Amino acid sequence: MTRHFLRDDDLTPSEQAEVLALAAELKASRHAVRPFEGPQAVALIFDKPTLRTQASFAAGVAELGGYPMLVDGNLARIGTRESVADVARVLGRMVSAVVWRTFGQERLEEMAAHAGVPVVNALTDEFHPCQLLADLLTVQEAKGGLAGLTVAFLGDAASNMSHSFLLAGATAGMHVRVSGPDGFGPDPVVLARAADVAGSTGGSTTYERDAVAAVRGADVVVTDTWVSMGKEDEAEARSRPFRPYALTTELLGHADPEAVVLHCLPAYRGVEIEADVIDGPRSLVWQEAGNRLHAQKALLTWLMAHQDGGGPA
Ligand code: NVA
Repeated sequence: MTRHFLRDDDLTPSEQAEVLALAAELKASRHAVRPFEGPQAVALIFDKPTLRTQASFAAGVAELGGYPMLVDGNLARIGTRESVADVARVLGRMVSAVVWRTFGQERLEEMAAHAGVPVVNALTDEFHPCQLLADLLTVQEAKGGLAGLTVAFLGDAASNMSHSFLLAGATAGMHVRVSGPDGFGPDPVVLARAADVAGSTGGSTTYERDAVAAVRGADVVVTDTWVSMGKEDEAEARSRPFRPYALTTELLGHADPEAVVLHCLPAYRGVEIEADVIDGPRSLVWQEAGNRLHAQKALLTWLMAHQDGGGPA
């Protein structure tokens, strides 16, 4: 069986813990493992803008002994020039894994169904699970563990980051509160799935419209841009309803005094987060960005170790 990482709950709680432990090991010893020795190629495809994700996967694949093969999404025009399934059948014969940032989750699912090699979600409209591995690693480093901690996500609670916090946080046994205005709540199917996972890990999940209530006593406070890639037309309409969710020093004052702040970047200072917060003493955003490298190396290493041998003819 080929294992993929298309959404956060593709890893069970114990598998997530294994990947995070491996990430910590690889952070301490960057060249300890070489699953792509050869070098074997890993396709990195971006249909949306990127900085951290491309850089961290490219550096990560190289550090794992492989060749990061950048496939330009604008040239490949997957799904327009040829079907996702046909692209998958071709790439699966050339590379050991496919990392893809794209729009709808169904595109990634189709890639996974036909590639015959592990497929990794490098962000879709629905989920951003690689970011969550880095975020959980960062919180684990700061707090010494994850289970039982409360995390508050502020802003677009209907976004990929909110959904991934719900699923990945629940998997880790955290109490996840996502908070955003009416009309920007999480997908009820994702919220229900996260509640289900939380039921087995001792965590919990809530959609809380009141930002102060969401942040109260939280150990981790997170925000993200109010305008995700592909939603640029809505920027103007979002600015007023989202304003109460801006992560200001005052709002952060309601969190636990030892609370840490995360942001997946890019950040817009003075919009979703105050400069004094992102550049302040509670912020772990640079550590978080650096952890993309270690978390994704661990994920790729883990996926390669959990494949049945043999590829397509
Ligand atoms: N929610 C953001 C995350 C950026 C890394 C987006 O999808 O644009």
